[in-house]
Formats: sequence, structure tokens, C-alpha cells
Amino acid sequence: MFLPFIYSLYTYSLFGDFLLPICLELLFCGLKKLKHQIPMIGLVMRERGLISRILCPKFGGYLTFAVLEGGKESASGQPTTSDLLNVYKIRRIGTDTRIYGLIGKPVGYSKSPFLLTEAFSSTGVNAVYVPYLVDDVADFLSVYSSPDFAGFSCTIPHKEAIVKCCSEVDPIAKSIGAVNTIVRRPDGNLVGYNTDYTGAISAIEDAMRGSHANDSSASPLSGRLFVIIGAGGAGKALAYGAKEKGAKVIIANRTFDRARDLAMSVGGDALSLAELESFHPEGGMILANTTSIGMQPNIDGTPLPKGTGLAGVALT
Ligand SMILES: NC(=O)c1ccc[n+]([C@@H]2O[C@H](COP(=O)([O-])OP(=O)(O)OC[C@H]3O[C@@H](n4cnc5c(N)ncnc54)[C@H](OP(=O)(O)O)[C@@H]3O)[C@@H](O)[C@H]2O)c1
Repeated sequence: MFLPFIYSLYTYSLFGDFLLPICLELLFCGLKKLKHQIPMIGLVMRERGLISRILCPKFGGYLTFAVLEGGKESASGQPTTSDLLNVYKIRRIGTDTRIYGLIGKPVGYSKSPFLLTEAFSSTGVNAVYVPYLVDDVADFLSVYSSPDFAGFSCTIPHKEAIVKCCSEVDPIAKSIGAVNTIVRRPDGNLVGYNTDYTGAISAIEDAMRGSHANDSSASPLSGRLFVIIGAGGAGKALAYGAKEKGAKVIIANRTFDRARDLAMSVGGDALSLAELESFHPEGGMILANTTSIGMQPNIDGTPLPKGTGLAGVALT
């Protein structure tokens, strides 16, 4: 069919994520209403706007742009054609596609879009998984409230703040005080869960069991010293899981008060980061870093103080 006009709407997300989603909604709603009359392209620039480029077929956008080779973008925030086709599988996205995604800041480092969109595709689930760069999680959820946005993962730094945004919180997530998985029920209500603690703890248990993987009678963590650096969402999940498995838990955190509060809630001990300098490791102990130090791209970073006796203990 001959298309007489294509209207292009571009906008910059200069105002953080409060105005960005409103802006996206306007574009998407506009596209929905007008798409049968006027072909439209609605795109938001920069990293925050990546979802508008990926979800264009879902909301009726006429086309989206991508760059053939990373580093040669003609506008800020353009994905590569390879990412659109292979990571987000844009050819599978249609009006019925459900949208899942990771809420975080930063979020661009995450491998989840690749992993989960691939999992949806290989199991025949009509869904896509995208990154949401979010400043304020309550504002974000109040705008991204349609059933199209079927569920979320949540990471740094929102795992604790998002608990209050859920209509219902699973009892374990409530005890931990952090939510990393949110499901939108058919009635629109959000239900929060914590899957970090099972994921992290079972991975550590499997590694410790090694070739004795079938010996699942007792946890290898039982009675062990388990030192957790960090007292945020991930630290809380690990502390809860380690306590459940009978480990002796010690929390060390930059903000000592948070270490103390978490240690009290799991019946453990608290340390400041500086105190780790004189900490004497114990045979078979586990040391887990749950801080943001060591995240991509600064993967050699460590929260351990220089000269600590823990230097020889591998960080989990
Ligand atoms: N692989 C996974 O499945 C998985 C799952 C969950 C989380 N994570 C990772 O875990 C990390 C933390 O996530 P989160 O959700 O727990 O974040 P969070 O709730 O924001 O907690 C961040 C923690 O890092 C500490 N921290 C931040 N900057 C620091 C610095 N400059 N020096 C020392 N400590 C510092 C904070 O200490 P204060 O209390 O002093 O601020 C706090 O304990 C992230 O890298 C996240 O990607 C991975």
C-alpha cells in the first residue's frame, strides 16, 4: 500500500524516568489510535529510550532504527541490528507479545534480556525481556501499569524500595525485606517474590558439593562461617538463605548501621568494612561480595580493605 505520510516523533529523555514513561505512553497511545490512518515512528533517545526502539512493533510504530556496527550510531541510544534481531528477537514481537523486563540503575550490563528472550523463544512463549533504566521505582510502576507489562525483575538499587510498591509480598520476601521478582496478576495487582536467596545459596551449595552433587541430605553450609559484604537487597537475601542453612553469619557493610540491623535480624554479627582488615579467616569459610563494587565494567574492584587477611579467600 502506498503510504502518503510518515510522521516521526523523537524526544529526548531529559527529565529522568518520571517524564520518560509518560512521554512513551503518549507516543504509544498516539500510535495505537493513529496507526491505521497515519504511519508513525515514535522513538525516545539515549539509554532510557531503548525500550521505545525495541517495542515499536508491539505498539504499532511504522519502523525502528538500528546501527549495523556498534560505535557508528547516528543517534544516541540506537541498538545494533544484531541486538535487535538476536537479543530482543524483534521479528517475534507483535501486538500480543507480553513484556517482561529488568528494573535497575545501572541496567545496561545485564545479560538477562539475552538469556530470557532466548528462553521465551525456545519454549514458544510470546514474550520479550527488556532493560528499564529507572530512577524512581514507584513512579515507574505507576505509569507502566497496563497488562502488557506482565512482570518485572528488580536489581540494584531498587530491591528494597519495590517491596512497598507490591500489593502482595510473599512471606519469604517480606522476611528478607527485598523483592527481585514481580508478577502482575490478572486483576492488575503486583505480587513480589525473592528468588535471589534460593538462586545464590543453591549455586554456592552446588559448588561446595562438587562431584558429590547427589549428596543433598545436609547443606554444606551448615555450621560454616559465612561472611557477607553488603547489606542491600542482595546482601539481605544471602544473609537470610545462609541463616536458613545453619551457617554462622557475619555482615560487613560500608554503612555500619545497616550491617548491624541485618545481623540482628538473622542472629549474626556485624562489622564495618575497616574491621575486615584485621579479620582472621577460618578454614572452609565463605566470603560473598554483594556490594556494587566489582560490577561491570570495573570487575577487578573489591570492597575488601587493603592488607586484609581475607585476601586469600576467593570472593563468591
Ligand atoms: N547475579 C545475581 O543474580 C544478582 C542478584 C542480585 C544482585 N546482584 C548484584 O549485587 C549487587 C548489589 O545489588 P543490591 O540489589 O543488593 O544493591 P543495593 O540494595 O543498592 O545494595 C548495595 C550495597 O553495596 C554497598 N556499596 C555501594 N557502593 C559501595 C562502595 N563504594 N563501597 C562499599 N560498599 C558499597 C552498599 O553499602 P551501603 O549500605 O553503605 O550503601 C550496599 O550494601 C549488584 O552488583 C547486583 O547486580 C546480582
